[in-house]
Amino acid sequence: TPRVFSGIKPSGGLTMGNYLGAIKRFVGMQGDMQTIYCVVDMHAITVWQDPAELAKATREVAAGYLASGLDPAQSILFNQSAVAAHAELGWIFNCVARVGWMNRMTQFKDKAGANAEKVSLGLYAYPALMAADILLYHATHVPVGEDQKQHVELTRDIGKKFNHDFKTDFFPETIPVIDGPATRVMNLRDGTKKMSKSGESDMERINMTDDADQIAKKFKKARTDPDALPDTMEGLKDRPEAKNLVEIYAALDDRSPDDVIAEYAGAGWGKFKPALADLAVAKLSPISTEMARLMDDPAEIDRILANGAVKAREIAEPILQQTYDIVGLLRPA
Ligand code: TYM
Repeated sequence: TPRVFSGIKPSGGLTMGNYLGAIKRFVGMQGDMQTIYCVVDMHAITVWQDPAELAKATREVAAGYLASGLDPAQSILFNQSAVAAHAELGWIFNCVARVGWMNRMTQFKDKAGANAEKVSLGLYAYPALMAADILLYHATHVPVGEDQKQHVELTRDIGKKFNHDFKTDFFPETIPVIDGPATRVMNLRDGTKKMSKSGESDMERINMTDDADQIAKKFKKARTDPDALPDTMEGLKDRPEAKNLVEIYAALDDRSPDDVIAEYAGAGWGKFKPALADLAVAKLSPISTEMARLMDDPAEIDRILANGAVKAREIAEPILQQTYDIVGLLRPA
């Protein structure tokens, strides 16, 4: 069976973008394939994280996975730093990847901005560690949002170069799985920007910990345009905010955007927004309630993560050992 790997950084809280673009899709892949999902805490520290907040955010991401239907009996759930092999393979990939490749990473350029001399070396090398996360399990399928596509493509390049340099076919080819209506959920105040954990106004995102009132208020205040909804998605081509809201609706309700727009053709925002707010509350508030319940029992979350780490190591260790052998690093088995 093909193996699936994906991860989420515990840097601040989860947003509806993480849920629709990642977690909901991860849960949907359970059962058909072997699924491995990670809280990538070592990726989070590429920028400063307060230690107490990092530990809390790690548990919160784990709670988000579990509350959304991730079943620890069907999927492996663990935090990255608990499996040392990630760091070990990450180093080897630092020596395979080229500086020129890193320089082309658009996310690094966006994050570093004009300050590239001052960011951590880890932020720069981040995509090599991400490649290690994936290839340590010989995962072939990587469900991600649109913003991670370039990193998953780089993973393929790193695996290929390793295979070429060492004349092997050890690492399989990895493909990004980017499907469904919500692979790029936009900010509620500006439809040209991605919804993110770090945007300056809380009104621009739905947090997975928001309560029903906050969710409803944010959708009611979401920026739109004065026009009514057209009868096809094509009609929303130049209306990014409107298109985003229809896509969010579709993703929440497991429908296609075409189906949603057909239902609301000709409707104004006075009709669509309250319907969207009600739908979002119905779908998201059970998850936030369950997250809060789980967060009340951190020891239980830690136990689930620890169990997952044991299972992850069982897969990762032999692959790391073989990698050391291929490279010629002596590592007593
Ligand atoms: P991160 O933590 O930024 O985001 C986690 C996942 O959520 C998706 N996502 C979105 N999808 C749709 N709309 C949005 N507005 C939105 N915002 C975030 C992301 O695409 C991602 O799938 N580098 C990764 C974490 C990572 C990883 C990996 C992923 C580390 N190692 C190995 C896959 C495989 C990251 O920073 O994601």
